Amino acid sequence: MPTPLPHDWTDRLALDRAHVWHPFTQMKVHEVDPPVPVIGGEGCDLLLADGSRVLDGISSWWTCLHGHCHPRLMGALERQAGKLDHVLFAGFTHEPALELVARLRPKLPPNLTRAFFSDNGSTAVEVALKMAFQAQLQRGEAGRTRFGALREGYHGDTLGAVGVGELDNFMTGLFRPLLLACDRLELPEDPRRELDADLAGWPERLEAAREAVRAYFDEHGDRLAAFIAEPLLQAAGGMRMWPPELLQELRAQCDAHGVYLIADEVMTGFGRTGTFLACDQGGSISEREASGSEAPLHDRWRGVAPDLLCLSKGLTGGTLPLSMTWATEELYGHFWGEPASGRAFLHGHSYTANPLACAVACASLALFDDEPVLANAAEIATAMADAFRELSAHPAVRQARVFGTVGACRLVDPATGSPDTLEARYGWKLHRRALEHGLLVRPVGDCLYLMPPLCTPPARIREAGETLRALLG
Ligand SMILES: Cc1ncc(COP(=O)(O)O)c(C=O)c1O
Repeated sequence: MPTPLPHDWTDRLALDRAHVWHPFTQMKVHEVDPPVPVIGGEGCDLLLADGSRVLDGISSWWTCLHGHCHPRLMGALERQAGKLDHVLFAGFTHEPALELVARLRPKLPPNLTRAFFSDNGSTAVEVALKMAFQAQLQRGEAGRTRFGALREGYHGDTLGAVGVGELDNFMTGLFRPLLLACDRLELPEDPRRELDADLAGWPERLEAAREAVRAYFDEHGDRLAAFIAEPLLQAAGGMRMWPPELLQELRAQCDAHGVYLIADEVMTGFGRTGTFLACDQGGSISEREASGSEAPLHDRWRGVAPDLLCLSKGLTGGTLPLSMTWATEELYGHFWGEPASGRAFLHGHSYTANPLACAVACASLALFDDEPVLANAAEIATAMADAFRELSAHPAVRQARVFGTVGACRLVDPATGSPDTLEARYGWKLHRRALEHGLLVRPVGDCLYLMPPLCTPPARIREAGETLRALLG
């Protein structure tokens, strides 16, 4: 006999407490603050079991793009559910996967021609790392056994992805003995994104950073299979916004040293930074402003083209798990051969290219074509700047900055100017209090940020800024 479902949330929360292990959570916390029951999603809001409605200010971990339960996405899911739920993707193919490739390809850097499917951001990264390593081996570069990555990066929680993330933090440092060999490069944040920027000495600092990139590649370049970066915005590292000039420099140095460049756009993809990809903004800021925006993307494209591109999160508009790793024809060519050659990429997951997820992803991409999604993102950017400018007047707020639809600042103790300590758990307390005021925020470390769905009305963002201002006291 199956156990009957408990009748109210007291019983359900007891069930949660007895048997569930939540992600990224010290479970003891839930003895005091149980997980928040959510019963629905509507547009940019989540509906909580206590009858309240909260703005999903972090797009449910950066996934939700067009709003929760968007009718076109739900309709696509329903239609696909009536046709084909799932089929293995080795030796088989299906319409939703092919439609997705056809829809996405024209929106990507023109050199990316080959799509490999998997299930989430971490696996998209694992695939890219393994592809880069194997491609180097098969092009005769067996000595390239290491990876390059940025300090403060985050690429997921599987061991390969952890190995190229930041290690000097409590989440990942303890896995050090199990990880890939990785050489890290530190880049400065871009003060031009700050609302109250001090640009004194910036050109010199930028040039020094460029020089540091060159020096890093001179030292490590001939041993690296690939260099991985979150283009222009390191999200989990604390919304670190870094200069497009340095993305160009990374590209140039990867080319000069035979290293594959992996762009991890798991978070930055699908309009979050104001363009479809953050890589599209790889030209320097002034070059971009001069480039105009009317011509088709592939004609006016001024971005930095990676060799491998990882996409997930917004790929299905935030509805179902799915990811893709896109590769160049050059890289793909190193895997080509007779079956006995042993050159194939022998990697895959049970739910690779799940048709339901692919169908929803197609519907999400269609919205980019049919509705002014990127224009909405631009309006969000303006509202975000207003909200964070307002917030920056508070003595606990430092370094307010905006990049596309992402607004962020550092929270400090106003008395000492130093960041919140882990013990004070200020971010967690702010998160819980904000929920009572209709807003879901969840600071990462000392970084308070907003990254709402792209359908969020600008007025709701200004309102969220006022709520935060009031909560900071
Ligand atoms: C840049 C980046 N890469 C990879 C990941 C991992 O994605 P997932 O949590 O879907 O495995 C994340 C998750 O936040 C991310 O921000």
